[in-house]
Amino acid sequence: MIVNLPSPHTKGFISFEEVLYRRRSVREYRNEPITLYHLSQLLWSAQGITSEFGYRTAPSAGALYPLEIYCSAENVEGIDAGIYKYDPFNHQIACVKFGFYNKELYKACLYQPQVADAPLVIVITAVFERTTKKYGSRGIRYVFSEVGHVSQNIYLQATALGLGTVAIGAFEEDMIKDILNASEEPIYVMPVGVPL
Ligand SMILES: Cc1cc2nc3c(=O)[nH]c(=O)nc-3n(C[C@H](O)[C@H](O)[C@H](O)COP(=O)(O)O)c2cc1C
Repeated sequence: MIVNLPSPHTKGFISFEEVLYRRRSVREYRNEPITLYHLSQLLWSAQGITSEFGYRTAPSAGALYPLEIYCSAENVEGIDAGIYKYDPFNHQIACVKFGFYNKELYKACLYQPQVADAPLVIVITAVFERTTKKYGSRGIRYVFSEVGHVSQNIYLQATALGLGTVAIGAFEEDMIKDILNASEEPIYVMPVGVPL
């Protein structure tokens, strides 16, 4: 199943400097849904296409775009719970499988409670070969750098929307891949919710 996301907004309500100042890792969330508009903005901030030439919100070495964004939506208004994959070309999400998977992700993230409690969990994954086939082993470093750019975009967009997130690096990679049905390598897990 494909879900069309609302068109991204390119104007916000607080200044960029204030977003930088307010950004914090947030690990406690209200038991509240987030909206489809929130999900749309977060995914667009991660990998949205912002140019007729295909360039995106985050930079990429050689514009090779090795990253893929998944999410586990447990409490997002307007969509059924499930694992979804972002399609930046059409600003859509495609359902990988329906169901509630945050408890599984929580176990894979070494039982970090913020993962179980969040209405949405974003996972940034990578296909290293897209970059290493051009840049060799240096491309590995490039891919990790790109994940940092994307993660920071998600942090800042979440902050601008009044949401909270945290970049999680402590997890069992194979468990995350199984939960997502993904062949890509997971690099960061980012639960998102309304701060408590
Ligand atoms: C590479 C990396 C891995 C991280 N892994 C985790 C993690 O597994 N769990 C977690 O709660 N926070 C994790 N964090 C978030 C840091 O704990 C957090 O950024 C740090 O405490 C500074 O707080 P701030 O982000 O609010 O400025 C990670 C951050 C980075 C950069």
